[in-house]
Amino acid sequence: MARKKIIAGNWKMNMTPSEAVTLIKTLKPLVATEDADVVFCVPAIDIIPAMEAAKGSNICIGAENMYFEEKGAYTGEISPNMLVDAGVKYVIIGHSERRQYFAETDETVNKKVLKAFEHGITPIICCGETLTQREQGVTIDFIRQQVKIALLGVSAEQAATAVIAYEPIWAIGTGKVATTEQAQEVCAAIRVCVGEIYDEATAAAIRIQYGGSVSASSAPELFAQPDIDGGLVGGAALKPDFGKIVNYK
Ligand code: PGA
Repeated sequence: MARKKIIAGNWKMNMTPSEAVTLIKTLKPLVATEDADVVFCVPAIDIIPAMEAAKGSNICIGAENMYFEEKGAYTGEISPNMLVDAGVKYVIIGHSERRQYFAETDETVNKKVLKAFEHGITPIICCGETLTQREQGVTIDFIRQQVKIALLGVSAEQAATAVIAYEPIWAIGTGKVATTEQAQEVCAAIRVCVGEIYDEATAAAIRIQYGGSVSASSAPELFAQPDIDGGLVGGAALKPDFGKIVNYK
């Protein structure tokens, strides 16, 4: 069965709750499609008003992060149950900004991925190399390591429903989009890696996104690649351009 594309916006630390409502109202008609799953991953405080604003549309509201404990003395964190209760179906895990600024590691990413599955939330698991790693030719090795650790203890059944976002760090927010060949090469390698961990069927089912300066002009070629099942979009997800990215064909 052909994989359905999944195009997700990552709002990062942008949009107040009232701005979120306005943006969703603007984007709602622009992102209407049956061809792709459309997810807006928004700041935690925006989740509930965003859900309300997205009602009756094809927009699915996701979170940008989640903690791996159920509850307790973890000041400032958001639990999986809080997300489930708010109706969240997707959560970004291990974005490079969280790894860089908030000390997330492959191990905490793995704990969060397991927790998300335990609660029926689909993780959008981020991986991506630095410019140095790319220049040193270790990109594929590094990505394989990130993917393997993120999926430790995840069953084949769960992995088949997961989303992996390949986001080269040097392409995030820089306007420097990876070439189609670079993006396809790494997404294909991720699929091979998933096949090695599990089996062919799991590799064929898992959805792999490209992220990093995706725009209305780069999306069509990127998303047409055999192993790229959509995108994780930062800057351009905050603009009407996101409608063009979703309807890239
Ligand atoms: P960008 O961000 O599209 O602004 O490069 C992508 C991301 O960080 O998910």
